[in-house]
Amino acid sequence: MAMASKASIQAVRAEFLDPTLYDDAGVSGVPRLSKGTILTAISRALDLAEGRRSGHAQRVAYVGSFLAEDMGLPPAQVEEVFFACLLHDVGMATMRTVPRMEPSRGARIIANAASAKEILNSMPAGGWNDVIEALNLHCEAGAKIVRRLGLNENVAQAVATHHDCWDASSAPLGAASIVARIVAAADRVESMIDGEASPLMVRRRGPQIVREMSGREIDPEIAARLVGLASRDEFWLGLYDNDLAAALMAANYGGMLGREDLFGFLGVVSDVVDSRNGREVGRGRRVADIARTVALGCDMTERRADLVKVATLLQDIGTLGIPASVLAKPDILTIDEMSTVQLHPTYARDILSEIPGFGAAAWWVGCHHERIDGKGYPGMLEGDEVPIEAQIIGLSEAFDALTSDRPYRRAMAPADAMTVMKGLAGTRFDGYLLGRFESVVGLSQA
Ligand SMILES: [Fe+2]
Ligand SMILES: [Fe+2]
Ligand SMILES: [Fe+2]
Repeated sequence: MAMASKASIQAVRAEFLDPTLYDDAGVSGVPRLSKGTILTAISRALDLAEGRRSGHAQRVAYVGSFLAEDMGLPPAQVEEVFFACLLHDVGMATMRTVPRMEPSRGARIIANAASAKEILNSMPAGGWNDVIEALNLHCEAGAKIVRRLGLNENVAQAVATHHDCWDASSAPLGAASIVARIVAAADRVESMIDGEASPLMVRRRGPQIVREMSGREIDPEIAARLVGLASRDEFWLGLYDNDLAAALMAANYGGMLGREDLFGFLGVVSDVVDSRNGREVGRGRRVADIARTVALGCDMTERRADLVKVATLLQDIGTLGIPASVLAKPDILTIDEMSTVQLHPTYARDILSEIPGFGAAAWWVGCHHERIDGKGYPGMLEGDEVPIEAQIIGLSEAFDALTSDRPYRRAMAPADAMTVMKGLAGTRFDGYLLGRFESVVGLSQA
């Protein structure tokens, strides 16, 4: 492999290395957040996993909740629609094979009797069977994750049925709840809107396409409502607003979480990430508790230490955007696969920086694989450029890994783990920080 030139390294660093872009909320601690705000941000990782244009899940949530309110549903049901829309493809994050095409689009191509050539062109390499199986699996996997996140059964059911068609004999959507029918319609309609070249074309052709789907793919009553929405400027202005994410977050669906509830909810998110990455579930939470203790041991305030804990719980959220086939590969990764995996801190940083008051945490998470000798990723930061909080995340994770059983070795005693870690002083970690860490975990005489 050719060595990267000094100039190209400098260019990457310059682009990455701008902590001023991330406001430091560490002083004021963890902001007050709702489940809706956190999941709105995380949904960006799901778009990546599904191979969709960024913001797909957010736009589906916008269409769905707009529709639910327009239909006069009670607030509790609007909230169910919102969460199910946002998470409709959460199961995709756990899939090994990702179907490359929306089935509704495939069905439409065939139903509209396009030319045989066009149908053949749209058929994936392995045939339709793989696609159909993957579709069924991601619906079931998604419903399971939704339950683990503590959302109710209506949300889980809507996620499980989001690819069902209104008129299909095997799984008739007509029997599903109104929440499920809205979610299925919103996903199809957003995919259709996203497939059109320009907003003007969508406005002109959209209503006709929705009428064609009515009674076949979409509940006719919902289709009629959607056609009505298409004539309202406010609907389109909201959909194409650059601050759509902020607007969705501001609704604070699910209500504000208290400190303990927030830790609990993010703990579940961390468990989902652990199981996706084939790790022992609960490991992320354990590491986060160590990190908080270490932050306090480094004379940080309680508030800042809380934010370090939150950042640690979310450190690997970016892996949701990396194909599970790569993460679960038992073999040595190719260079391409390796660079895909190395995108996870950047994904996480961009996802988290969308959350109000999360600037500092986003920056730390983005740096959790940096090394002080400049050999880390993605920014190749050096020395003091690597934030102390990012190093605390890395230290806590390394310590937990060494002191846990692995398939190929027994857990090390804490003192032995510390010896290994001290060998990383000056390369991976700062020597002074390692000393602090040692006294915090009670292994030094100092
Ligand atoms: Fe899906
Ligand atoms: Fe979708
Ligand atoms: Fe990581």
